[in-house]
Amino acid sequence: MAKYRSLLLGCGPRAREHVDVYREIPNMEMVACCDLIEDRREEFRSTFGIPEAYDDYEKALAEVQPDVVHAVTQPARRVWEAECAAAAGVKAVILEKPMAVMPSEIVALDEIQQRTGMEMIVNCQRRYFPQFRDGVIRDIVAEKIGDLYFVRASAKGNSMSMGPHMMDLLMLFLDEAQPESVWAMGYDIVEEGYQAYHRSPERLLAEYWFPNDVRVIFDCDADCLGTPGEESFWMHLHFDFLGSNGRLYLTQNKGYWYQSEGMAEPEHGESSWDSQGLAGQRDFTAAVAEALDGGKPHLNRFEVGKAAFNALIGAQQSIYEGRRIDFPHTFTDEQWTELREELKADQARGTRLHRS
Ligand SMILES: NC(=O)c1ccc[n+]([C@@H]2O[C@H](COP(=O)([O-])OP(=O)(O)OC[C@H]3O[C@@H](n4cnc5c(N)ncnc54)[C@H](O)[C@@H]3O)[C@@H](O)[C@H]2O)c1
Repeated sequence: MAKYRSLLLGCGPRAREHVDVYREIPNMEMVACCDLIEDRREEFRSTFGIPEAYDDYEKALAEVQPDVVHAVTQPARRVWEAECAAAAGVKAVILEKPMAVMPSEIVALDEIQQRTGMEMIVNCQRRYFPQFRDGVIRDIVAEKIGDLYFVRASAKGNSMSMGPHMMDLLMLFLDEAQPESVWAMGYDIVEEGYQAYHRSPERLLAEYWFPNDVRVIFDCDADCLGTPGEESFWMHLHFDFLGSNGRLYLTQNKGYWYQSEGMAEPEHGESSWDSQGLAGQRDFTAAVAEALDGGKPHLNRFEVGKAAFNALIGAQQSIYEGRRIDFPHTFTDEQWTELREELKADQARGTRLHRS
């Protein structure tokens, strides 16, 4: 019998990868799935050979007593999902990104983590692509391009859809550095479909100050400078790192290149969602079991996800205040709601840039 028994909450498109990788992880077993929609949960049960299917999360937790929960839902009830898991004695809950949307949610998750010791891991699985996990990019940034002074990070999804992945990787590449301050502008609110859950200004351009005078331009905008040839918004993820002695550029699905003084040609390495995505999810998931076994801490452990979320939410506070703000941010849910209402009103009036 596998050592760790898992429950899948949410049987939507994203969950397929969460389950698919289980056939390659011998010490973990997906013992039950749960979805409000019968067709979805039954299709998962039959396709992936999952023994039990439930329509009620709390009942599933009580009957299955899983060690691990995968919450692969829209980010509407992350605190409830984690609280129920902790109350049922779950050892680790994997929360799909974004792990929170409003400022108070990360505070509540933090409180659950401190109180119960349950591992809470945000599913930013790109950290487990080999060139990221093994520190190849971090080491080029630290050692090969001289003194880093400028980074451009751009994604076509908003700051709660692609932003969590982009901030997560940025912090990994900067050796878990956290920003000291941010000055951002943003506008447009969409309250339908996917964006109704991934709630953030649709267009956000932030300047972050990281330690050692590293400036980061962080662009989450459908019109950002993208990566040619990509269709889907989640494929447009790009970084440029400029140092005193060279440059690194990285495009999620094309690869990375770096060139330092004295190199006739840039050196190229792989980065590919298509060929690394599933293996990344597998290694990410297997690393949860390893962490539970007392092995290496998970690369996406709670503190890491919390830091990335707080960096993103600080940009929204800066938009709200119309000025540069220092971290830690002090943004509240009330201010978050007020910002949203004001941006909607701006949008309706056609005066979108009043907070910049
Ligand atoms: N890490 C990545 O690379 C990546 C990629 C795509 C999507 N995502 C994230 O994955 C998440 C899910 O995306 P999706 O497209 O699969 O969403 P989805 O809405 O299609 O699927 C979620 C499923 O959860 C079910 N659900 C919601 N609340 C439930 C409850 N209380 N009890 C039982 N079932 C419940 C819904 O019925 C639905 O079937 C989002 O947060 C998204 O941002 C991450």
